Amino acid sequence: MEKKLIFISIFSLCCAVAVFAGSEVKDVINMDNKAYAKHKKSIVVFPHKKHIEDFKINCGGCHHDKDKKPLNNLKMGDDVQNCIECHKKAGMIKGKAAKGLTDVQKREYHANAIHDSCKPCHKKNNKEKGLDKKDPAAAPTSCVQCHPKKGK
Ligand code: HEC
Ligand code: HEC
Ligand code: HEC
Ligand code: HEC
Repeated sequence: MEKKLIFISIFSLCCAVAVFAGSEVKDVINMDNKAYAKHKKSIVVFPHKKHIEDFKINCGGCHHDKDKKPLNNLKMGDDVQNCIECHKKAGMIKGKAAKGLTDVQKREYHANAIHDSCKPCHKKNNKEKGLDKKDPAAAPTSCVQCHPKKGK
């Protein structure tokens, strides 16, 4: 009986791997970058597909090349570089440690680059639509809206 269960588990695992290997970008990306030894904040759930299809944002609104040139002609299935390949330091720099650093130096830190991408666009969107940042319909701008409290 036990053996049969183990067999079934292994079998389902193989199926799952096979399915994932064939697919491209996930519709929703769990932002759990493996370069971090440990995340201080809870893992952000990023609805990638929604941004493209519902919010109608060009690929180049978020993806760019080594010269910061927007990659507007990307297609799903293209080999897209991860942010951390250029914004290399896993972590966030702020407060005293960040004093005197230019924005570009701060964006050497992965989380700073990510935040500098997500937050300004969300703020602009909310302002344009006249949404208070606490409105459930507003794009998330506060820490807890993106990094929900653990244990919930
Ligand atoms: C609102 C911002 C945003 C938009 C718009 C966007 N992306 Fe992304 N995309 C991301 C982020 C953030 C990641 C995660 C990258 C990371 O973790 O380094 C990602 C990941 C990806 C990946 C997976 C990379 C990998 O191998 O892990 C692909 C492929 C991709 N995007 C393609 C596209 C294409 C094609 C478009 C346009 C049709 C697009 N993206 C539009 C932000 C965006
Ligand atoms: C191929 C290298 C490369 C990749 C991959 C890359 N960046 Fe950048 N990024 C740069 C360079 C170079 C700059 C210009 C220096 C700066 O402003 O920090 C830049 C600038 C930025 C800026 C400032 C934009 C502005 O208008 O001033 C943000 C925000 C940013 N990157 C976020 C991201 C995010 C988020 C990803 C992944 C979806 C990403 N980057 C992927 C190289 C890259
Ligand atoms: C270029 C603009 C832009 C960028 C960059 C962007 N977003 Fe958004 N995001 C939006 C818009 C527009 C909405 C929809 C707000 C609304 O419905 O009014 C949104 C909504 C969201 C929502 C709520 C989704 C929902 O179902 O209501 C999440 C979560 C989110 N964004 C995460 C992120 C994260 C994480 C990043 C950075 C990796 C990011 N976004 C980058 C434009 C952007
Ligand atoms: C728009 C969504 C968004 C908002 C708002 C936001 N973050 Fe993040 N944050 C992210 C994403 C996405 C990452 C990247 C995580 C990854 O790729 O592993 C991140 C990464 C981080 C990291 C590095 C990873 C870790 O957990 O140690 C820290 C620290 C962090 N954020 C703190 C904050 C703080 C503090 C605030 C409020 C001042 C904040 N964030 C607001 C989306 C957001």
